[in-house]
Amino acid sequence: MRKVIVSASTEYAVLIGRGLLAQLGTEVAKRIRPCKAAVITDTTVEKLYAEQAEQSLAAAGFTTCRFSYPAGEGSKHIGTLSDMLEFLAEQEITRQDIIIALGGGVAGDMAGFAAAVYQRGIRFVVPTTFLAAVDSSVGGKTAIDLRAGKNMAGAFYQPQLVLCDVDTLDTLPEEIFADGIAETLKYGVIGDAKLFAETASGDFREKLEEIIETCVKMKRDIVNEDEFDTGLRQLLNLGHTLGHSIEKNSNFTLSHGHAVAIGMHLIAKVAERSGLAEKGLAETIRQALLHNNLPTSTSYTAEEIAAGVLKDKKRRGGEISFVLPTKIGHCEIVKIPTEEVLDLVRTALA
Ligand code: NAD
Ligand code: GLY
Repeated sequence: MRKVIVSASTEYAVLIGRGLLAQLGTEVAKRIRPCKAAVITDTTVEKLYAEQAEQSLAAAGFTTCRFSYPAGEGSKHIGTLSDMLEFLAEQEITRQDIIIALGGGVAGDMAGFAAAVYQRGIRFVVPTTFLAAVDSSVGGKTAIDLRAGKNMAGAFYQPQLVLCDVDTLDTLPEEIFADGIAETLKYGVIGDAKLFAETASGDFREKLEEIIETCVKMKRDIVNEDEFDTGLRQLLNLGHTLGHSIEKNSNFTLSHGHAVAIGMHLIAKVAERSGLAEKGLAETIRQALLHNNLPTSTSYTAEEIAAGVLKDKKRRGGEISFVLPTKIGHCEIVKIPTEEVLDLVRTALA
């Protein structure tokens, strides 16, 4: 088992290994005395892993209850959050009890937000998608989507433990697994050329634990320095500003990871055409994405994408931050005036 310690406002361990779900109860019991555990999951993950998780918790002395919502980004809204909070209250969950997010990034983000606003309860995260393992389970960003855009309401709220059982990734459909590849390539472009090359080759399935650990360590280092996203952490938004708009334009029929893949390629084109990036960078990223069955382009117009970008929560008055890659392993955060956003998107699509 691999262990990474995050030292943000809360210090917690990220455990990565195989067969860990069976140890959920004992790992949680090392951190809190037996109490009520509300397991929050989606309808797909529920069928696959909820019983195993609950049995492990029960064996360690916890009393469990379960809330599940229809799988997918379409559930990441205030209605589901409201139902979740009502459920926690009906179950008489107190701040001495725990909330366990079992699932992908949607379960983690929503259960995390529920924990943050429901008596500021204690939360544990069990990521079951590759995307959640390498990115969303760590760092304490929690959120729901609003009609206006992605993750528009949320809170920073760190977990007490992240337990990543790599065996759970075996049941992921290829397309959903690929969402995690997009985020892994993102880490490579931001700061690790070796990770990029390994992931780009598509030949890393035997090394999943190592890849997850590498990404989590990178995120740990960034979050330890800038937990509240005022500087360095913005690097993690590579591909996200265009990606979030594309995801929203698709009415969330396009997954987050696929949208980020497109956003990453498009912003690399902008960086290259502006002379900031070395020549050939966008094509290198495009090939890495294509090799992993990820999309690199979109049929939305520049106007449609720019409109979504201008609503992005990263907008600050008359400016919006973009992460521009300069080479594999290095990116810069650049503030673009809002009146230049449409031109930037046109360059990205050209
Ligand atoms: P998700 O949670 O919707 O999971 C994707 C699909 O995979 C769902 O249908 C789910 O039921 C299914 N699934 C999950 N685990 C499975 C398994 N082991 N076997 C089979 N099917 C399984 O989405 P996601 O792609 O994991 O996460 C995307 C979300 O994460 C987005 O909302 C995004 O905004 C958020 N995100 C948050 C952060 C953060 O820092 N908080 C970072 C990146 C992404
Ligand atoms: N995934 C972006 C962040 O955690 O900051």
